[in-house]
Amino acid sequence: MKIAVIGTGYVGLVSGVGFAELGHDVTCVDVDAPRIAALRRGEIPIHERGLPELLARNVRAGRLTFSLSTAEAVAGARAVFIAVGTPSAPDGTADLRAVLGAAADIGRAIDGFTVVVTKSTVPVGTWVQLHAAMSPLTTHDFDIVSNPEFLKEGAAIDDFMKPDRVVIGSVGSKAIEIMRELYEPFVRTGNPIITMDNTSAEMTKYAANALLATRISFMNEIANLCERTGADVDQVRRGIGYDRRIGHHFLFPGVGYGGSCFPKDVRAVITTAREHGMEFPLMAAVEDVNEAQKHRLVLKVVDEFGANLRGKHFAIWGLTFKPRTDDMREAPSITVVEGLLKRGGTVAVHDPEALHEAKKLFGDRVSYHRVNYEALAGADALLIVTEWNEFRRPDFARMRQLMRQPIILDGRNLYEPEVMREHGFAYLPIGRTPVRVPTA
Ligand SMILES: NC(=O)c1ccc[n+]([C@@H]2O[C@H](COP(=O)([O-])OP(=O)(O)OC[C@H]3O[C@@H](n4cnc5c(N)ncnc54)[C@H](O)[C@@H]3O)[C@@H](O)[C@H]2O)c1
Repeated sequence: MKIAVIGTGYVGLVSGVGFAELGHDVTCVDVDAPRIAALRRGEIPIHERGLPELLARNVRAGRLTFSLSTAEAVAGARAVFIAVGTPSAPDGTADLRAVLGAAADIGRAIDGFTVVVTKSTVPVGTWVQLHAAMSPLTTHDFDIVSNPEFLKEGAAIDDFMKPDRVVIGSVGSKAIEIMRELYEPFVRTGNPIITMDNTSAEMTKYAANALLATRISFMNEIANLCERTGADVDQVRRGIGYDRRIGHHFLFPGVGYGGSCFPKDVRAVITTAREHGMEFPLMAAVEDVNEAQKHRLVLKVVDEFGANLRGKHFAIWGLTFKPRTDDMREAPSITVVEGLLKRGGTVAVHDPEALHEAKKLFGDRVSYHRVNYEALAGADALLIVTEWNEFRRPDFARMRQLMRQPIILDGRNLYEPEVMREHGFAYLPIGRTPVRVPTA
């Protein structure tokens, strides 16, 4: 099948590569000319495990091409996927300009019956707007399918190729048939393709992200309560996770959620509710708790060192909103770094993949280190913000030698407090009893 994918970000690129891998003829489109030029040279603009190999293979086989022209990509395509960004507007609503712009370009370009699929996360009812935007621009038939994407950055290829479920929202039987043909090879192990109406499909994506964000904020509040009561959140997490009604996922407390999805989708749920005459206090609380949690590490620093951090130097390990990606959109690390700088501290940062992104945000206000140990030189404390695997078993003796003071504020609970005591560190985790006075 000839397919066009509009938008070559995390979702568009992974989807385009995934469909090409199954033998389809895919053109990926973007308005960002340097991005398309880079992709044509074989350079991948994002960090995603497995993507470079799959992309190169499908380009070589002639199944995957890149274009700046929606018209060129859409001509002759039976399915066109919209995978452009839907960031928050200043009032918290989802900014649909890219989606509606892409829909208009598609409307002008279709040359026969076309299935127009929204993979972008869009507010409930957007499919009606898309229909209205495209209808005046074409005489050809088209169906709008709402096909939310559930992939996780860091495991995006795996999630796309082996989804837990595929949600197809459409009222058109021809469109559903084409979508089934496209997705059936991805669910051969029996995971379901769930068909429903467009509105419910759009709501499904928000409900999923809102629930996951709620679990994170809930556990962060439990962790904060553990700190006050002397309970150990890691024990509590395990104690509740074995309950099958609860499960283990998304029960890890930390420095708050970030990324390109949860924050904006939580805000969009709140504004969608408001637009329909309803307050959604639970979601507002989830967001408030998350905002507060992003400041927790800096508040702990202030407890240790005082509000004026002049003359104090801090190392940060991990800048991305989660490991195995280079995405720093709304990452808690931004709040942490800015909080330290604002109070007069100096900051040295390390991240395995995101230093190029960090430079765009922090410029020359911090120092950048490719090697995690190098960021520690002369540090009064290390703050761990992202749980990259390579931070789990570091050389603690080497760390102590490099640092001015052996203090670790761990926003991801990577280590056992007792082990840290043995290594001679003051150790401040989230929701667990801190080690305050090093014995060694
Ligand atoms: N990133 C994720 O993990 C994830 C997961 C599930 C769903 N989503 C949703 O998918 C959508 C895309 O997310 P992303 O992270 O891939 O975004 P992204 O910002 O990484 O990429 C979007 C791309 O679309 C391009 N673009 C914008 N307007 C365009 C237009 N009119 N024509 C062609 N290209 C255009 C941009 O230049 C950019 O390259 C969002 O709605 C997001 O909520 C994201």
